[in-house]
Amino acid sequence: MAKEKTLFTCSACGGTSPRWLGKCPSCGAWNTLVETVAEAAPGNNRYSTASFAGLAQAQAVQPLAAIEARDFARTASGLEELDRVLGGGIVEGGVVLIGGDPGIGKSTLLLQALDALQRTGLPTLYVTGEESGAQVALRARRLGLEHSPVQVLAEIQLEKILATMDSHQPAVVVIDSIQTVYSDQLSSAPGSVAQVRECAAHLTRAAKSSGMAVVLVGHVTKEGALAGPRVLEHMVDTVLYFEGDTHSPFRLVRAIKNRFGAVNEIGVFAMTERGLKGVSNPSAIFLSQHSTPVPGSCVLVTLEGTRPLLVEIQALVDSGGPSPRRLSVGLDRDRLAMLLAVLHRHAGVACADQDVFVNAVGGVRISEPASDLAVLLAITSSLRGKALPKGFFAFGEVGLAGEVRPAPRGQERLREAAKLGFSVAVVPKANAPKKPIEGLTIHAVERVEEALEVVHGLG
Ligand code: TYD
Ligand code: MG
Repeated sequence: MAKEKTLFTCSACGGTSPRWLGKCPSCGAWNTLVETVAEAAPGNNRYSTASFAGLAQAQAVQPLAAIEARDFARTASGLEELDRVLGGGIVEGGVVLIGGDPGIGKSTLLLQALDALQRTGLPTLYVTGEESGAQVALRARRLGLEHSPVQVLAEIQLEKILATMDSHQPAVVVIDSIQTVYSDQLSSAPGSVAQVRECAAHLTRAAKSSGMAVVLVGHVTKEGALAGPRVLEHMVDTVLYFEGDTHSPFRLVRAIKNRFGAVNEIGVFAMTERGLKGVSNPSAIFLSQHSTPVPGSCVLVTLEGTRPLLVEIQALVDSGGPSPRRLSVGLDRDRLAMLLAVLHRHAGVACADQDVFVNAVGGVRISEPASDLAVLLAITSSLRGKALPKGFFAFGEVGLAGEVRPAPRGQERLREAAKLGFSVAVVPKANAPKKPIEGLTIHAVERVEEALEVVHGLG
């Protein structure tokens, strides 16, 4: 295929330059020029291949009420936890981006999913760019899938991948990973922003026009974002992220965008000798086992998707230098700074000269504000060197005025904790149950000061 002309486009202002420059000649921003294929004359759009020609013709306009609402055709993969995050299964023509740290289990999960799908009769294609066919076969053997009917293609050139998809007509295609694929229309290296964007755009279009479901595996940068431009997330229908500590066997797959289902649903897996196994009752997996309660630890009941999870929040408050540090793992750092200010202003507890570290155990990321109260109680527990009582937990949002706000679905959280043997709780007043819950002593509070007093009184 003849090389198309390329030019360099500024990702900040859209200005162009025929050569790569460190500084955009139009807006002066640094390091924003990205190689793109030059658009030829209008009407000669590089995407308007024969199969898309129909797009250019005027289409009939019809009233919304006249359009039949159809559910998307979905196929359950049979991996229940994966189907749960996807909103019920793989959608025909849908594009899924799945990101996560290296070694967390992306390839393992997708190979297992393809095997299950192929066994239900759907033709599949696993395109591997990261590993050779032999390496994939080795993984399959570890997984006990050595006789798997999954079709494997070891290829990284986009045009060849598209041609194979066209000739084999699989129903589900996995591209592992999008960073290894390159198009010969661009001269930049595989994995560059330009290549990732161009290849993802072509694959997305192929999915939409053929009805194949495409799953793109994406790498995550050190900062935790999917490598490549954010535009990748906008282009696809569903974005899933793998979370979890590689040292623990548990893995969370979270939907952060889903055009075909609920977001913030999670799937929970355990990495075993024979691959990833779904954990259908995950509420207690993020609790660490202390034989006696330790200072600086508070159990939080958080609600992830449709299921409550109990997560241990740990805090360490230690005398700091001239500019004390505030660090958080798995929790929002700005929110931590805010909580420390509230603690100082409304409860008179000062940490201004102290380093404060907080951590959500097990590598989970907690984004819901209902974690505030547990974070505050873990901090004050560490500051005073006094452990919270055995069987204690908390949840509730804390406002800037020092008020404790209710968390959604409080009853469900309380019942789950009681089921796991927890016995004492500090919760927002509005979440206090109308009928007592067996085995549970509940202290309902309206303000931060009140919560600290209650905890103090618990001894
Ligand atoms: P992998 O799926 O290759 O990760 P990714 O594609 O996200 O980079 O996962 C590899 C890790 O999982 C590796 O550290 C070994 C481990 N593993 C198991 O513990 N059990 C298994 O059955 C398999 C296949 C891998
Ligand atoms: Mg991999």
